[in-house]
Amino acid sequence: VRVPPPQNEPVLSHAPGSPERAELQATLKRMASEQLEIPIVIGGKRIKSSKTDTVRMPHKHSHVLATLHEADASHVEQAIQNALSVKDEWARMPFVERAAIFLRAAELLATKYRPILNASTMLGQSKTAHQAEIDATCEAVDFLRYNVHFAQQLLSEQPVSPAQTWNMMDYRPLDGFVFSVAPFNFTSIALNLAVAPAIMGNVVLFKPSNTAALSNWYNMELLREAGLPDGVINMLPGDGPTVGNPVLASPHLGGIHFTGSTPTFQGMWRTVGENIARYKQYPRLVGETGGKDFIFVHPSAADDLDAVATAIVRGGFEYQGQKCSAASRIYVPESMWPKLKTRLQEMIAELRMGDVTDFRNFMGAVIDEKSFKRTSSYLELAKNSGSEASIVAGGEADRSEGWFVKPTLVQLTNPRHRIMQEEIFAPVVGLYVYPDAKLEETLRECDSCATYALTGAVFARDRKAISLMMDKLRHAAGNFYINDKPTGAVVGQQPFGGSRASGTNDKAGSMLNLVRWTSPRTIKENF
Ligand code: SER
Repeated sequence: VRVPPPQNEPVLSHAPGSPERAELQATLKRMASEQLEIPIVIGGKRIKSSKTDTVRMPHKHSHVLATLHEADASHVEQAIQNALSVKDEWARMPFVERAAIFLRAAELLATKYRPILNASTMLGQSKTAHQAEIDATCEAVDFLRYNVHFAQQLLSEQPVSPAQTWNMMDYRPLDGFVFSVAPFNFTSIALNLAVAPAIMGNVVLFKPSNTAALSNWYNMELLREAGLPDGVINMLPGDGPTVGNPVLASPHLGGIHFTGSTPTFQGMWRTVGENIARYKQYPRLVGETGGKDFIFVHPSAADDLDAVATAIVRGGFEYQGQKCSAASRIYVPESMWPKLKTRLQEMIAELRMGDVTDFRNFMGAVIDEKSFKRTSSYLELAKNSGSEASIVAGGEADRSEGWFVKPTLVQLTNPRHRIMQEEIFAPVVGLYVYPDAKLEETLRECDSCATYALTGAVFARDRKAISLMMDKLRHAAGNFYINDKPTGAVVGQQPFGGSRASGTNDKAGSMLNLVRWTSPRTIKENF
């Protein structure tokens, strides 16, 4: 049996009058009036805990969407035992049967669960309908379908066999469980962190982000309905160290599949290092850990002013700049700046921000109070930097109803200003204007300014300039865009991941990622 190559899930417009809009609006209304209890899930059982947290709407923080039950060390122990007890049965299930479960999940998500995942991502994570659709539905469906496809390709990779011999690769799962740790910003990434190892036959302990627990819970429901056996993916919401420390102390840790902050991943790596002699195997460490993503504009892009401005606005401010791929430092030649500045100010002034259930809004709120405070401190920094910083647009924040931060563009005369170097993860973008004659010097600056190397974009018409930028910025981004914004990688089209402080670059949604979740056994048989 061969799984046919998939196609990317089409993005529905949710235009006024469309059936998907009506369905989404009805789901939003229902979900906003519910008071859900999100349990811990171990071995398919829904478990309540004495420790709870609340899930709130970022754009209306007085509104509690759900109560979340948090796991402690005893739940972790229970989950490990449970996962290990179903491990062999899951690993021995023929691949086509495992594949069918995830392909069925993809179909369910594209139909029945589409409004549910879109609505929960809108309300819980403050995404607009479009941002929810391209994430919680389309990217998630693509991850499910493409991972099945790539897994099948991988399994068919076999060594050569001379006469009277059969050489075989037995793609075993890892000898233990995989710990998947998810960020708040992409519902699809959270799903993929758990599903990619599971497709390769692994059992998983999945830790969602508390702030994204609503959508992540519905993904658990989706997988259950699609027929995923109990215990294959166990959900342990809760405090990072409370859940993480007992997991990392287990001798059965087979690997970590992580997306989140650099300090958290580095901390986990350190703990794994300290515990290394305890483990039955060397755990696989796969992490995607943020970025300080650039747009570099070459003078030959002068006729593409609108395209450049659109890339900055969409790349920097869609989903409030909370994509790890978001454009957050911009390099513009002096010759283009006056016109581009005017165009950017016009475009930014038109951006509507507010409650994401009002479909006219382009932006919602940042995720929580912590993010709001952190972002506000960068706005203060911009205001207190004297002649080094001037605010081109935005600069204000309002916490009265939701965690709202105006789309903010700051021009820096010092290319090493903190706003050009640090990941802010909010709608605050730094911009540096360089003398046209100092192109190569500024490319070197762009390459060395940040410790990250996730995504980056260049704009140019001149082919030689494109080659030069591709060369000089070779290690500055794992996803490199020419004449496009640096966000919006599509599964199967632009495998996603970066190096340096941005992660291990085991491209999500590709065979390179799936390879990490297998420990192949080479078998030789003589006849
Ligand atoms: N896939 C998303 C993007 O490229 C980020 O993870 O924007």
